Amino acid sequence: MNGLHPDLARILVPEETIQAHVKVLAHQISLDYADKGPVYLVGVLRGAFIFLADLVRHLTIPHVVDFMSVSSYGKSTESGVVRIVLDLREPIDNQHVIIVEDIVDSGKTLSYLYNMLKSRNPASLRTCTLVQKPKGPLDVPVDYLGFKIPDVWVVGYGLDYADKHRTLPYIAELKASVYTK
Ligand code: IMP
Ligand code: MG
Repeated sequence: MNGLHPDLARILVPEETIQAHVKVLAHQISLDYADKGPVYLVGVLRGAFIFLADLVRHLTIPHVVDFMSVSSYGKSTESGVVRIVLDLREPIDNQHVIIVEDIVDSGKTLSYLYNMLKSRNPASLRTCTLVQKPKGPLDVPVDYLGFKIPDVWVVGYGLDYADKHRTLPYIAELKASVYTK
């Protein structure tokens, strides 16, 4: 008995490792944008809110936090057709924007967001994701990455399965029996 919820197969990224990497990412972003004025962080709801909350508290540069929410048509993002459920509050033209995602799987969500925000003429646009699955080449760059993980369903630290396990402090692999039943 190790105290792990019965839905979970194993811990993939322990809490301390996540926290250490989030600090490194925040440090890197703080260095990269030190001379550029405020950075406009776009958190992608719902999964990225915990990551973003920790990330911004380690930034040492001026920043603005805003959120977007997108939803895919149908059950998955496989079609690549995504719609905006919640848009940014302000225009981002001439802003230095970073999209902050929880996870990149096929990359279709990130690609949609990237191209859509690019069309709003930001001064610069980069992407930051906590985890990435090995789904082959993406058509958008991932500029700041926390971890590469295997192609399994993961939960915790903002990531959910059917709204469950989102607030776990670590990232864990969900048992396949949970999502195939
Ligand atoms: P993509 O468009 O295929 O890259 O899908 C990205 C979105 O799918 C993420 O923003 C998550 O909401 C969701 N997602 C993909 N894989 C996982 C996972 O393992 N756990 C939780 N959510 C996931
Ligand atoms: Mg997401």
